[in-house]
Amino acid sequence: MKRILVTGGAGFLGSHLCERLLAAGDDVLCVDNFFTGNKDNLAHLVGHPRFELMRHDITFPLYVEVDEIYNLACPASPVHYQYDPVQTTKTSVHGAINVLGLAKRTGAKILQASTSEVYGDPEIHPQPEHYWGRVNPVGIRSCYDEGKRCAETLFFDYWRQHGVRIKVARIFNTYGPRMHPNDGRVVSNFIVQALLGHDITIYGDGSQTRSFCYVDDLIEAMMRLMATADDFTGPVNIGNPGEFTIHELATTVLRLTGSGSALVLKTLPMDDPKQRQPDIGLARQVLGWEPQIELAAGLEKTIGYFRERLLAQQIADLAALARLGKTLQPAMPAAPTETTLEQPAGSLAQTA
Ligand SMILES: NC(=O)c1ccc[n+]([C@@H]2O[C@H](COP(=O)([O-])OP(=O)(O)OC[C@H]3O[C@@H](n4cnc5c(N)ncnc54)[C@H](O)[C@@H]3O)[C@@H](O)[C@H]2O)c1
Repeated sequence: MKRILVTGGAGFLGSHLCERLLAAGDDVLCVDNFFTGNKDNLAHLVGHPRFELMRHDITFPLYVEVDEIYNLACPASPVHYQYDPVQTTKTSVHGAINVLGLAKRTGAKILQASTSEVYGDPEIHPQPEHYWGRVNPVGIRSCYDEGKRCAETLFFDYWRQHGVRIKVARIFNTYGPRMHPNDGRVVSNFIVQALLGHDITIYGDGSQTRSFCYVDDLIEAMMRLMATADDFTGPVNIGNPGEFTIHELATTVLRLTGSGSALVLKTLPMDDPKQRQPDIGLARQVLGWEPQIELAAGLEKTIGYFRERLLAQQIADLAALARLGKTLQPAMPAAPTETTLEQPAGSLAQTA
């Protein structure tokens, strides 16, 4: 049994990873400051004899004894990472220094959740790992893109200088249950809008393409990467190479939800990449991995999650009204509150 630290374990990807590691028989310590993560994501794991949850901000050092570290802590969507850009860079850079220091002291193997955003707005397509990227260092996305690039640099310097056993995964757009409903990411945006019968907002003309990896496939690849021999560091692209236009995604969501929402075009935000597709040749070769879940199948599971979540929200709203002694008029639609489900002000992009 290994003792495994998952930073950012209360988030979307981290909660699935904690679940899979426990299922594999490991001892899991989840560390999170709950900025974008949520205890609800882990409610089903609390009380498990091999699971521990600690509130901690990784911009501060952490003293624990572990065998492996998955470093996922970092807000991942533009609306969240641009909320406090200085803290975002600190989380990537100071956070990396702290977890790498921990790996150095304990001899733990450490995996970094890096991102396709290190390629910026690429000139080549799809992007192989040896492509250095085209990133704006002074734009509004730079706190995330450059923070992640600097974290990769630190990982490779701790490997070269201190012999720390590192693994770097460059994660492409991933979706699935426990995504945030209102963080501006395209899959959750479209599903929530469709389920609520609101207009579906497409930024740009919808011809820009994205690839979408289902969360279970992603977690499988991360665990395989952690298990590779010590001389394999990555970076390795992990994502689903199936490429879809944003317009295709919107129409698929409409079909699967049975929604009659209208498609509405809005201005494309600054620095939004036109194309994003992983070259997963290295992952195929080294990890023996291939995404298994088709987009429609993954979307169905994700839609099921959001349906349940919206229903739970409606029930909570009704209960709150009842506590206040108010009753709903029969004709009033039982919709979730605006504050929880409206699109965030200045929702900026539809990327990972
Ligand atoms: N989901 C994707 O499509 C995607 C794509 C590329 C890279 N990634 C990377 O994967 C990781 C997880 O992404 P996610 O989609 O689960 O995002 P998420 O926002 O759901 O999860 C991030 C978690 O990190 C926690 N966190 C943030 N700052 C912290 C800090 N300073 N100290 C401790 N905890 C902190 C948050 O509370 C949250 O639980 C991130 O590093 C992200 O950059 C995700």
